[in-house]
Parts: sequence; C-alpha cells; structure tokens
Amino acid sequence: MTSLSIYRAVFAGLAIPVLTAIAQADSLSKSAPAPKAYASECASCHIAFPPGLMTAGDWATTLKELPRHFGTDASVTPAELAEISTYLRSNAATSEDRYGSTAKPPRMTKSAWFERKHVRKLPANVWTDPKVKTASNCMACHLQADKGSYSERDISVPGYPGRHW
Ligand code: HEC
Ligand code: HEC
Repeated sequence: MTSLSIYRAVFAGLAIPVLTAIAQADSLSKSAPAPKAYASECASCHIAFPPGLMTAGDWATTLKELPRHFGTDASVTPAELAEISTYLRSNAATSEDRYGSTAKPPRMTKSAWFERKHVRKLPANVWTDPKVKTASNCMACHLQADKGSYSERDISVPGYPGRHW
C-alpha cells in the first residue's frame, strides 16, 4: 500500500464516525448515562428531556425554580438535585446562539435550533393537532423519545404518516 492509499483507507474508516460524533456533540449527548434520579424525578410528567438541547445556564435556572415548575411543584431532595444538576450541566449544549432559550422559564422548544428544525419545518396545523397539543410533547412525533432516540426512522408526525422531513 502506498502511503496515500493507507491514508485513504484510514480516512474512509475513521472520518465518518468522527464527523458524526462532532455533529452530534452539541445537540444530543449519548455519552454519559443519566443518574437514576433524572429518570425517577424528571420523567414522570414528561419524558426525560435530552440535556444537550439546553445550555448549562438554562438548566441551572430550571433547577433553581423547581418548586414553581410550569404550574407544578417538581422539587427534589438536595442529594437528587446535586446529581441531576451535575448530569444536566455537564451534558448541556454549549452554543448559546443555537440552543439558548428565548423564553422564560427556559424551554428547549424555544430556541433558534428548535425554531429551525421544527417550527419552520413542519406545517403550522401540526402544532394544534390534538395528538400533539404542545411542542414539549416530543413523543407525539418521536416515537422512541422516551428511549432517547430522535432518529429519522423513529419519527412519525400526526396527520403526516410516512412523510420524510
Ligand atoms: C409534576 C410534574 C413535573 C415534574 C415532576 C417535572 N416536570 Fe418538567 N414540566 C412539567 C410541565 C407541566 C411542563 C410544561 C409542559 C408544556 O408546556 O407543554 C414542563 C416542562 C419542562 C421543560 C420545558 C420543556 C420545553 O417546552 O422545552 C423542561 C426543560 C423541564 N420541564 C425539565 C424538568 C426537569 C429537569 C425535571 C426534574 C427535576 C422536571 N421537569 C420534572 C411538569 C413536570
Ligand atoms: C410535531 C412533531 C414533533 C414534535 C412534537 C417534536 N419533534 Fe423533534 N423533530 C420532528 C421532525 C419532523 C424532525 C425532523 C426534522 C429534520 O430532520 O430536520 C425532528 C427532529 C428532531 C431532532 C433531530 C434534529 C437533527 O438535527 O437531526 C431532535 C434531536 C429532536 N427533533 C428533538 C425533539 C425534542 C427533544 C422534542 C420535544 C421537546 C421534539 N423534538 C418535539 C418532529 C417533532
């Protein structure tokens, strides 16, 4: 093998996984497993939202305001709070421009990223479909969101079965 063909072989084998990892790093972290408290305390009313879709600052605000959480009390014990906080903040999005919440209290459904990937992409009537109700209802379209999958093959938008986006 010439050095060029070795280079090509290595490049072909490595470049795709490396680039994919870089592309995903800022949106969905698959690296750190969530602590038990995140599933037990933060996935009873809605799914365990992916940490990589909000910034560390926005997660900190969310956690500070848990006793007044969207009209409910979502308080956790200090020990759970510490665990959840470490997990969310260390797996958070780093781009304020893309993922910073444009609403208070913070929402991952209110960011430049969500606007571009969802609001502008999908027909407006989707958001008022009774099966969707709210943009936070990830499971309405991401059939495996509770298992952490947002991949194309697990998407089915109510009213648009089989359509690719
Ligand atoms: C008692 C029920 C309850 C619990 C427990 C709960 N939440 Fe929520 N959460 C809600 C409700 C209600 C909303 C608003 C949903 C909507 O507007 O559609 C919400 C919304 C959110 C949002 C904004 C979603 C968006 O629109 O982008 C985040 C982030 C969030 N919760 C994080 C958490 C975290 C972190 C925990 C665990 C510490 C938690 N929640 C526990 C009820 C709960
Ligand atoms: C009304 C349907 C719907 C809802 C509700 C919805 N999504 Fe999506 N989502 C989509 C569609 C359709 C795509 C594909 C868009 C694309 O490929 O550009 C998508 C794409 C994504 C992607 C992948 C983007 C990429 O770059 O490939 C992620 C991550 C995601 N959504 C997360 C969420 C989260 C988290 C929630 C809830 C807070 C949510 N979505 C709510 C329909 C929805």
